[in-house]
Amino acid sequence: MLNTKLLAATNSDNVLLPRCAYRPQNAEYSLNGEWQIAEYKSVYELPENALNKNIDAKIDVPSCVQYYGYDYFQYTNFKYPFPFDPPFMPYNNPTYHYRKTVELDKNENKKYLVFEGVDSCFYLYLNSQYVGFSQIAHRVSEFDITDYITFGENIIDVFVVKWCAGSYLEDQDKWRFTGIFRDVYILDRPCGHIVDYTINTKIDGTVSFKYNAGGKAAEVCFNGEKKTVSVGETAVFTVKNPALWTAENPYLYDMQIECAGEIITEKIGIREVTIENGIFKINGKHTKLKGVNRHDFHPQKGVAVNEADILADLMLMKDYNINAVRTSHYPSAPVFYRICDELGLYVMSEADVETHGLVSKEGGYDTEYWRLFADSPNFHDAIIERNVQNTVNHKNRASVIIWSLGNESGWGKNFHNAAVILKELDGTRPVHYEGMIFVENVDDYYRLPVDMVSRMYVSTKWILDDYLNDKKETRPLVLCEYCHAMGNGPGDLYEYMQAFNSSDRIFGGFVWEWKDHGVLYGGGGYKYGGDFKEEFHDDNFCIDGLVGPNLEIKPGLINLKAVYGGDKADETVPFSKKKIKLTDGDVSIIQNNESITVSAGDAKYIVERSSGKIVSIISYGKELLLSPIEVSITRAPIDDERFITPIHEKMGLFSAYQETRELSVSANKIELKGKMLSGFMSPRLDFSLSYNFYTNGLEIDFSYNIPGEVKYLPRVGLRFSVDKAFYNVEYCGYGPEESYIDTYPLKRKSEYKSSIADLFTDYIKPQECGSHFGTDWLILSNNEKQIEIVADKPFSFSALPYSTETLKSYPHNWQLPTSNAAYMSLDIAMRGIGSNSCGPDLAERYEIPRNGKAVFMIKIF
Ligand code: GAL
Ligand code: MG
Repeated sequence: MLNTKLLAATNSDNVLLPRCAYRPQNAEYSLNGEWQIAEYKSVYELPENALNKNIDAKIDVPSCVQYYGYDYFQYTNFKYPFPFDPPFMPYNNPTYHYRKTVELDKNENKKYLVFEGVDSCFYLYLNSQYVGFSQIAHRVSEFDITDYITFGENIIDVFVVKWCAGSYLEDQDKWRFTGIFRDVYILDRPCGHIVDYTINTKIDGTVSFKYNAGGKAAEVCFNGEKKTVSVGETAVFTVKNPALWTAENPYLYDMQIECAGEIITEKIGIREVTIENGIFKINGKHTKLKGVNRHDFHPQKGVAVNEADILADLMLMKDYNINAVRTSHYPSAPVFYRICDELGLYVMSEADVETHGLVSKEGGYDTEYWRLFADSPNFHDAIIERNVQNTVNHKNRASVIIWSLGNESGWGKNFHNAAVILKELDGTRPVHYEGMIFVENVDDYYRLPVDMVSRMYVSTKWILDDYLNDKKETRPLVLCEYCHAMGNGPGDLYEYMQAFNSSDRIFGGFVWEWKDHGVLYGGGGYKYGGDFKEEFHDDNFCIDGLVGPNLEIKPGLINLKAVYGGDKADETVPFSKKKIKLTDGDVSIIQNNESITVSAGDAKYIVERSSGKIVSIISYGKELLLSPIEVSITRAPIDDERFITPIHEKMGLFSAYQETRELSVSANKIELKGKMLSGFMSPRLDFSLSYNFYTNGLEIDFSYNIPGEVKYLPRVGLRFSVDKAFYNVEYCGYGPEESYIDTYPLKRKSEYKSSIADLFTDYIKPQECGSHFGTDWLILSNNEKQIEIVADKPFSFSALPYSTETLKSYPHNWQLPTSNAAYMSLDIAMRGIGSNSCGPDLAERYEIPRNGKAVFMIKIF
């Protein structure tokens, strides 16, 4: 019964032209709430009499149908979630028939039905009459329903189809949700109402109101003045000594627009965005964007976030010194921009355009294919429309300072034209598009109608060496994405901020990304790609946020706060050498073929000859060790090692074991040389260990050398485990959150008290965590005993409820078994974190040194 031809077109039908987003006072009748719903597996299976069929099932609107048991959850980064055959969609294209019955007055007013977001497209029927069809998931679709309604009961039928031709342009890295996911309402407006207007401001206090479309004259009240304006006219107001709008001081003026008896209240921020001599400025001053990328996401609602959810995101951003948001990769709901105006956040508002899946249409990754859409006449109008929609809707918001043409869709004349049209529509904001780098002719690159250079995930070296030295380049630089916050990380925030601060030509960037997209559905904990048995998915690549799905604060966000707050790096605080006294006493040594037993006062130590490990420490009659003191060269892979973990596997690091090559015993001392061996390969590490035994502890002198053929190791240190009753940890090192060689400058070196549980960072995908760089000493204790550890130089330690092996083998945090021990690591060297899950390789200086040495003293009492 539906006109399915529309699904293979990129245009809409009977939707009103876009207008600036506003909600007139008292005009709104919300249609949020309970609707009826019926599912059809294919749009082609809809019966002719669908409109007359009874519908029993219920759904809350706004929502995503997947959370109500329909369809399935699927997360893909860029692979199209359907066969690539534009503009067609597969036969099995699920369709959701929504129905709501409403009581309406039939007065002389105009009535509009507004949908703020529906994925992917929908057909609207009112009282069994076809009204229109709309696509572009993140657009405001408005229909004039005046002639369709009757007095009293009205039946609204909406058919939402999962995929349409527009889906080729909406291939953002996201869960692929379906449904009416943003507000729906009817507006009851007087005849001759205003339709669209543009408010522009200048920092000299000029505020202009341009009446673009509507009917009757409007009275605009601003700053104590009232002016009458008709369609096509502009009213100009002047504010003396205006309070300017900035993210730090988001001062807003009230404006009242009265037209045909209807009142619209606007909040106006007076500010100007300019680019002068290659420098990005707000209100005439160079401004750095300390930004994040934000998707709509809630673990129990998917993309159907409401005002409270948005507010919670944005308030938390403000608390953490973030001053800018990129609406990656589609416009946010209108209310988002109003909150940004009020809280003070700069917005890069992005059009709903991403064709990333094109690059993999043949299974590989070929950016040449992007031109197929970027240059195609068939997609020209759609790309323009998506940009016009973004601009027209949000043009009156002070917070919006940049328009972005979309994301990862290559370059072609469709983007060229979109940029030109945007500049005609709004000459007051610069245009951004990272896809500019795919322009065919290199010389054209410098002449594109794009106002800024943009890159994602370039190294700081590229910024400092290439961009800043490019003589032909006159535009300022922004990083639309940098510091990929997946898992433990990002490790390079400080470094990027230093690069941003090195020149006013660089105006900052947006960390990828704000929130982990972990889904809570069907039991267990947070889920990611593959957890719903979907055939194509991209695993945990959606778990890449600074905060958890429920806004749990992750260490990366705390580091970001320090960087964006302009905190200076903590100098390496002088090493505080805590002295511990190992009391000499009588030491006796008994040897056999397998082991060497050392008795020192009440203590007894056993060293295994073949491995050189300390396999037992009996202190006051009780075994202390649950697993030996041994050499360790691996850590549970972090997401930022996703490209090198397979190399580490191949290098046999995870199965490496310790063997002795030489061993000698004298007085209270055992000295040995050993190797870490794996499979058929040459040694992975050469080391020497010298153990000195005392009645109340031991001293371990450990040195290592990484053989030439072994490229990199994740760590070199010692590890052991003890009973989980050893729960309390005191330390002097960089904290209180985890710190690594590349993140410690953002931490404070101090004395901290913590616990095994609190030292663990609960990443959704378990991985290496909880290390503390620059540690001088540490004390582990239970109710009766203490283990005190010092070294002759700062080291990294971790004290965790799980072993490397456990963290490595469980894909989700909620699957981790109950902890059975305290797992201790004392590392001479620990590899940095970086953000190579998407960003550049870890800087060489954060790799662990080829050789090293430390003396650890361990006192047990
Ligand atoms: C970028 C893309 C983002 C996201 C990120 C990886 O290439 O623009 O949408 O996919 O990579 O998390
Ligand atoms: Mg993408």
